[in-house]
Order: sequence, then structure tokens, then C-alpha cells
Amino acid sequence: MYNSRQVVAIILAGGKGQRFSKDIPKQFYDLNGYPIIYYSLNAFNSNHFVDEIVVVSSREYLEATRDICNPFHKVSNVVIGGETRSISSMNGVMSIRNSNSYVLIHDSARPFLTSELIERLLSNVEETGAVIPVIRSVDTLVKVEKNGYVANTLDRNSIFRVQTPQCFKYEVIFEAYRRYLNKFIDFPDDSYLVIKEGISKVKTIEGDTRNIKITTPEDLHTYKAS
Ligand code: CTP
Ligand code: MG
Repeated sequence: MYNSRQVVAIILAGGKGQRFSKDIPKQFYDLNGYPIIYYSLNAFNSNHFVDEIVVVSSREYLEATRDICNPFHKVSNVVIGGETRSISSMNGVMSIRNSNSYVLIHDSARPFLTSELIERLLSNVEETGAVIPVIRSVDTLVKVEKNGYVANTLDRNSIFRVQTPQCFKYEVIFEAYRRYLNKFIDFPDDSYLVIKEGISKVKTIEGDTRNIKITTPEDLHTYKAS
């Protein structure tokens, strides 16, 4: 509970991880003795504000996902995802029964989230109903034209990289997905939909540079125990 609202975490694990490997989805790969998804389950399960965890899985890996969720008593539901991240996320949101909730939506491919980040999100969500963690780019950012030449250099002070978890009041994210229901375009993340549909402003807070998304095998090698 937080501010008298229930806290529900949705962990998205319905993807195929095609940029990572062609055999099994990346969330099931071993990272120092546990599958990658285990770390997000553990982070939410051990945070005392989080009441419930909903896991979104593909149909094919439903049993494997259920097995990994077994030790985590806060997992209330494993729901089936869809072809795109957006549909998986929508299915997770639509499965929530208690409208008096804060909803945290997280990529299972980000195993390094911390309790500090979860709590920083919760303590900032009340103001707009939507808050996302962002980090500055340490590299200079340029816009490149199709021909490979630089069009212009972007202002690094106003461009940020977006992470998950993203945190919403239930009514904000529910309304975003209710309007999305029949559209079925894929979009980059959950906050995008909230902005596009004009539902609320999205507040940013400082993310965590360690909270990377595992996308390719190189991302994982960096973090394996030596
Ligand atoms: N995801 C999901 N359902 C989908 C697609 C993605 O639940 N249909 C989840 C993934 O499991 C992942 C998160 O969304 O934890 C972020 O997506 P991404 O990193 O793109 O993972 P994949 O789509 O699995 O990887 P790829 O794009 O390389 O195939
Ligand atoms: Mg993907």
C-alpha cells in the first residue's frame, strides 16, 4: 500500500527476445544462477509497498513462467500477452481488478531495478498520475539523415533515455489502454500512450544508470560474475 492505494507491479515477459537469441526468450537466460526475470520478481516481491505482482507471459512459455513465479507469494496472476509489447502491457493493465491502485509497469529484461527506484517513483506519482525514470546521455547525440550524414547535433540537456518501471495511477493507465483497445498500433512505451491520448502530463524523475535493458548477448556478458 502507498497513500492508501494498492500497489500493483506488472512484469512484461511476453516477448521473444529476438535480438538476443533465436532459441529461448532472453528473460529465461541465466544471470549469476537465476533466470533474468527472477530479479524483477524478487525486487517487487521484497518491496514492502508492493502488494501484488501480475506477470505477462506468452502462451508458449506460460508453464515455464509459472514455475519461476512459484516462490513469489505476491504474484496474483500470470496473464497471456500479445504480439507486441503494447498488447502485452494492455492485457496486464486490463487484468487489474482494484481501481484504487498505483500501477508499476516493468520490462522483465531489466533485472537491475532497485527498491530505491520503486520508492522514488511511488513518491512522485501523485502529482500528475504518471511518472517515468529517465537518464541523461553521456554521449553527444546527433540526428542522422538517411544518407548517413549528420543533420544536426541535439541539445543533450533536453534529450533523455527512458527506463522502466513506469508508474501510473490506475485511472490514468486504464483510460490510456481503454482508448487504445481498437487501434493496435505498437508504440515505444506506456507513457507515450498517456501523452498521445492527452490523458495527463508525464513527470520525469532521475532513473538509474545500472537499470539497463538486456537486449543483446553483449549486455549480459558485462554483468556475469567473473
Ligand atoms: N514484451 C512483451 N510482449 C511482447 C514483446 C515484448 O511482454 N509481445 C516484453 C519483453 O518480454 C521485454 C519488454 O517487453 O521484457 C521489452 O521488450 P524488448 O526488450 O523489445 O524484448 P523482446 O521484444 O522480447 O526482444 P526483441 O525485440 O529483441 O525480440
Ligand atoms: Mg521487442
